[in-house]
This record gives sequence, C-alpha cells and structure tokens, in this order.
Amino acid sequence: MRFDLFTLFPEMFAGPFEASILKRARAAGTIVIGVHDIRDWTTDRHRTADDTPYGGGAGMVMAAPPIVAAVEATLGDEFASTPIVVLSPAGRRFTQEVARDYAGRQRLALICGHYEGIDERVVEALGADELSIGDYVLTGGELAAMVVVDAVARLVPGVIASASIAEESHDVGLVEYPHYTRPLRFREREVPPVLLSGHHAEIARWRREQAIRRTARRRPDLLPLADLTEAERRIAADAITGENETADSGSPHR
Ligand code: ADE
Repeated sequence: MRFDLFTLFPEMFAGPFEASILKRARAAGTIVIGVHDIRDWTTDRHRTADDTPYGGGAGMVMAAPPIVAAVEATLGDEFASTPIVVLSPAGRRFTQEVARDYAGRQRLALICGHYEGIDERVVEALGADELSIGDYVLTGGELAAMVVVDAVARLVPGVIASASIAEESHDVGLVEYPHYTRPLRFREREVPPVLLSGHHAEIARWRREQAIRRTARRRPDLLPLADLTEAERRIAADAITGENETADSGSPHR
C-alpha cells in the first residue's frame, strides 16, 4: 500500500517511519511512504503557502492552489481511485473501523493542516474526507497523519502477524486484558495464578472477563457496541457499580 503525505513541514516525518515495524514494512516494500512539501507547488518567489482569512480573524489560512496542485500532480492517474484525507480537529473521528477501511485500499493521501486551517475549497475540490484523531487540538496535522499511517499500515497484510491483530483492543469492541511476563513477583505483586494454570479455556475466560471489566470502568462508551452475552452484561454492570471487586480498579495503583 502507498501513503502520500502533504505537509509544510516534511522534516517532522523523519523518525517515526524509520524504526520498528514500519521500517521493516518499508524495507520489504509492503508499504511505501512518500512525503511531499506543499511549498514545492507554490508559484511565487517566497514560496507562500498561506494567507490572511477572508472576513478577518486571527491567524493564517493555508491557501488552496498549492495543496490541490500537489495532490493532483502526485496522484496523477490514481487521483480518482485514491481516498484523500485532510487531518483536522474539526473532522469525523478516526477509529479502528476507518483504519480497517483504508487498509483495504491501494493508496491513501493525507493532507496536514496548519495555522488556523485550510481553505475550505481544498476539501471540496479534492472530495476529501476530514478526519480528527481525537478531541484535542494539535499544533498541526502532521502528528495526526503519522497516527493514521501507523494504524492503517499495521493492518496491511504482511506488515504484522495476523494473530496479533485478531484479538486486539477495539476489534472486538473491548479494550485489551492485562498482560504479564517474567518475573513472577515484582514489587510485591504476583502474576494472577490462573495464567500459570496451563488451563487454556480458564485463561481465555479470565482474559475476556478482565477485558469486559476494564472496558466497563475505563471506556463505558464502547460497551453498547460490544458483543456480550447476558452474563457478560452483568459482569460489566457489576464492574461499573464496583460489585464483586477484583484487582483492576481502572486507575493508577500508587
Ligand atoms: N490537527 C490539529 N488537531 C488535530 C486532531 N485532533 N486531529 C487531526 N488533526 C488535527
């Protein structure tokens, strides 16, 4: 899969794509990431990519012509078949479902907003989808674009083992169960005995129950979408009211 990123700050992308899983996937050619400087498509001597807002107000607005020219020239024949995303705190929420959707495509273009925003006609001219990675405001869309690339790339077949994707957080509508490795005892805390039992069915049951309790306490907003049995719904309800309390309180342990 190919990712094309359009930015005023290409230097910000040095690093995140050059380590770990994304580095390996790029080396293998499973994913290709192109970073494009929007200023390369400006036409004046000063390489101006922004201007004051019509109607007045604070800050600068990224101008439409260089952005649209950059995207059209880069995508070429694939313009019509490539989803185009503008990263913006005003966008639709980026979720695992959106990531899965994009992971099935050949190519994805991401435009990083800056300053007060992007001329609205960029979104219209390119038929772009505006996405927000969460309810907070970043200094620009670059970090958000990196988040989207990371979340989508790991779902591209061959990037990571499919077994790790199968049962992870959010795909089943629950946050993940707690994990443990050696040592058995750390700072007076023991690994839950069931994990040492070798009893696979018991372990699977414990993990699912932990995931349900954690989701109920930390992310109750996810529960209505989770596929739970009647008994599991009761576990979730108990976790919220604090009944049948076990280890996980959902808050830091100090
Ligand atoms: N740009 C600034 N804040 C953002 C956010 N939360 N998501 C996506 N792009 C952004």
